[in-house]
Amino acid sequence: MKETVTEILFPKEAIGRRVRELAGQISRDYEGREPLIVGILNGAFIFMADLIRALNVPCRVDFVRLSSYGAGSVSSGEILIGKDLEMPILGCDVLIVEDIVDTGLTLSRLVEILRKRQPASLKVCALLDKQERRRVPFTADYVGFFIPDRFVVGYGLDYNEKFRFLPDVCVLETSSEREDI
Ligand code: XMP
Ligand code: MG
Repeated sequence: MKETVTEILFPKEAIGRRVRELAGQISRDYEGREPLIVGILNGAFIFMADLIRALNVPCRVDFVRLSSYGAGSVSSGEILIGKDLEMPILGCDVLIVEDIVDTGLTLSRLVEILRKRQPASLKVCALLDKQERRRVPFTADYVGFFIPDRFVVGYGLDYNEKFRFLPDVCVLETSSEREDI
């Protein structure tokens, strides 16, 4: 399989501007409070790092790692917690930060799991949203950019752990053409 980055969808400057706008909106919404920002590893780590440094409210951070049963780039259904939160969230204002909403399975399941722990509030902020791919209804409270159904990498998003380091969000094309024939 050959993967090629074919196009920059959002250059780092545009991402930076949008992240600051989101942080402004979140800061206004959480004024006087100290949210617990929950990042979903690994994809959200760069977005989350930029987002929290642009907030005007204090916050705490924690992380979860999820695994969907059945590997690959397409979500299968059953979502398991691989690494759980370190902190209890009872009575906390929790804001989940994710790189991308695709089918909606991951976030709807995580929200369901965390709601049972009775946080004071629970919201979701996603950098990207591929709305047309939803398999279950899910609406994030804050979205950086709505995107068409293209596979994207960079700014934390990966393909088999590659391309996360790219500073821009880019479109990845894959082809199964053999190069040795
Ligand atoms: P759901 O459950 O909403 O899953 O289908 C969202 C997860 O799917 C991955 N995903 C992507 N990762 N580029 C990526 O690097 C993409 O275009 C993409 N679309 C979905 C991602 O891990 C996300 O957390
Ligand atoms: Mg992810």
